[in-house]
Amino acid sequence: MKIVVAYSGGLDTSVLLKWLKEKYNAEIIAYCADVGQADELDGLEAKALATGASKCYIGDLKETFARDYIYPMFQANALYEGRYLLGTSIARPCITKDMIDIAIKEGADAIAHGATGKGNDQVRFELAANALAPQLKVIAPWRDDEFRKQFPGRSEMIAYAESHGIPIRQSMKKPYSMDRNLLHISFEAGMLEDIWYDATTEKDRAMYVLSVSPEEAPDTPQYVQLLFEKGNVIGLATEGIEDIMKETGVTAEGTRGEYTLLSPYGVMMVLNTLGGKHGIGRIDIVENRFVGMKSRGVYETPGGTILLAAHRDLETLTVDREAQKVRDSLIPEYAAMVYNGFWFAPEREAIQALVTKTQETVNGEVRLKLYKGNVMQAGRRSPNSLYSEEIATMEGGYEELYNQNDATGFIALNGLRLKQFSRVNNK
Ligand code: ARG
Ligand code: SIN
Repeated sequence: MKIVVAYSGGLDTSVLLKWLKEKYNAEIIAYCADVGQADELDGLEAKALATGASKCYIGDLKETFARDYIYPMFQANALYEGRYLLGTSIARPCITKDMIDIAIKEGADAIAHGATGKGNDQVRFELAANALAPQLKVIAPWRDDEFRKQFPGRSEMIAYAESHGIPIRQSMKKPYSMDRNLLHISFEAGMLEDIWYDATTEKDRAMYVLSVSPEEAPDTPQYVQLLFEKGNVIGLATEGIEDIMKETGVTAEGTRGEYTLLSPYGVMMVLNTLGGKHGIGRIDIVENRFVGMKSRGVYETPGGTILLAAHRDLETLTVDREAQKVRDSLIPEYAAMVYNGFWFAPEREAIQALVTKTQETVNGEVRLKLYKGNVMQAGRRSPNSLYSEEIATMEGGYEELYNQNDATGFIALNGLRLKQFSRVNNK
């Protein structure tokens, strides 16, 4: 038997790797995705091999994640339960797809993951696998009674690692769980399980990674301009962009006027830095997990928060009212599909086709002002702008396009049913 295991080099997945090898007497291939979590990946392969894997793949998915997952999702303005920008949810299908490509290439029989039996991640991983490779078996050790009995806590894992020669770096275990990628960081569990616990104060300053608190953000605002093509950001302009690019290792793809053209990954990196500096994109919510329970999460999504604000703003100018209404009505559905793990499902792909159609005219520029946790609209313009100062103005003129007398009949017909309802029912 051959199993591809989702592996991070941490204690849990190291133990899992070894345990699977013993239990199934299998050849194990380790797989780790780089979706921008900024983990040290040097030495990971050696560690995987020392733990018992026959091979280790590291998938560099940073650009794919941005281009094929984050960008299409932001075209839809997806927000789960009105607030969550789906940072973890959207990374799962991306990671699973690459892992499955490798499992197929390697002729593996199964894939395995270290998600718990209580969360969303197990569902996302397995539904993506079902959709992409129905023939592959999926192993979830955390849902194996034997595994759970053997490892009721962290100390049993450490003991197992020590007795099995698994190289572990004894780092201080954080009192909460974190998931980081190019789009966000999530914090859950530990002290956050008390939903009255206030995670905005000074004592938790060290928990946050991507952003400062609004209180600590600069006293001077910063402008950023975003250049859109078909609903996607292709360029940015802001003061000091060269320094940010140098600092984050992002390179330009060219220039257009005042804009630096960037890849989707580059855009996310620069926006994250900008947003983080100005304390943008922190939320604290209680959300509904797909498996039924409510769960409290704190999130940092600096770049995504800016991106959503800019995209929404440009759409108000460039998308027809009724097309926008239809698309907006699908946002909760679409977001739930992403959250619940149905990325590779026909319904998500069908809505995506509609969404992408609405983006053909979403071209132009948005100017925003970032200031102490706020993203403020500061102008927009577009070659596809449907806004007409001449039509909208109170100054008169343009009688051929809009004759004020037409409004009389318009209101009369719309008012008819209201009058009738009132006459019958409000005697
Ligand atoms: N609650 C968020 C979600 O379901 C974040 C999950 C974080 N996952 C993790 N393995 N730490 O998308
Ligand atoms: C997990 O259980 O693996 C993390 C939380 C989640 O997936 O919702």
